[in-house]
Amino acid sequence: MTKIYYFSGTGNTLWSARRLAELLTPREIFNIAAEMRREPITIEADAVIVLFPAYAYQTPSMVRRFLLRAEIRASYIAALATFGSDPGGALAEASRILKRKKTPLSFAGGIPCVENYITIFGVPSPATKEKRLAMQKAATENMARMIGERKTRRVVLTFRPFSALVSSLFRAAKRLFVKGYKVADQCNGCGLCARICPAGAIVIIENKPVFSSVCEHCQACLNWCPMRAVRYIRITPDSERYHHPEVKAADMLIRDAD
Ligand SMILES: Cc1cc2nc3c(=O)[nH]c(=O)nc-3n(C[C@H](O)[C@H](O)[C@H](O)COP(=O)(O)O)c2cc1C
Repeated sequence: MTKIYYFSGTGNTLWSARRLAELLTPREIFNIAAEMRREPITIEADAVIVLFPAYAYQTPSMVRRFLLRAEIRASYIAALATFGSDPGGALAEASRILKRKKTPLSFAGGIPCVENYITIFGVPSPATKEKRLAMQKAATENMARMIGERKTRRVVLTFRPFSALVSSLFRAAKRLFVKGYKVADQCNGCGLCARICPAGAIVIIENKPVFSSVCEHCQACLNWCPMRAVRYIRITPDSERYHHPEVKAADMLIRDAD
């Protein structure tokens, strides 16, 4: 049995997790955001694959906490980072955490995807998106093959000091970033943002989302809002949004409506 754990804001990582699940059987697939509500997190399997997006050259905070908390009993453990341009030290961080816990990684790999950090970079052009989606598919299928053959690949290339600096600045600033989220008049109070937020950072009060500092800055609320009503500095209701084209909002739901 292969157990696949993923964290995803805009569906890229979920898409790769599902593709791996199609190619590696028997398998089960789990959303890390939902698993984090369990206590304890004990994982027993022949192989465990953890997939997550690179955030500021490191792992998302929730994934770091998951790796620290999970008790993994498996003879083969893989970590795969999806990324928009350069995953930096994301895989090295996962590798370090698991090594310290005496459950070292057997395999580490990066999966190039469409860059989803739209608040900084905007949405890529259609040609770039198409190219990156094809790269994601090819890389995911290649990883599935290597993991299926139980290949070992522990070398994780990273320029750690730079990654660590960018990451610590990001983690410190993340609490402030949340102040940038605003809600435009278009908001119809549907609550989808609260139900898809992997961090559980959004509550609906008087029919409007209210954001809290546990936000991972994953961009889910901005990109999945059906009214484009979630705003962030230069992202307005007129701005283009992004999510993986083969993933739907319904696939991303973490919690039920209140
Ligand atoms: C806050 C944030 C930080 C990011 N940092 C990086 C990064 O350091 N390197 C990189 O290549 N991509 C970075 N990205 C892009 C994502 O890693 C990439 O688009 C990923 O596939 C998104 O996965 P998802 O759709 O499952 O959320 C970042 C995205 C966000 C939202």
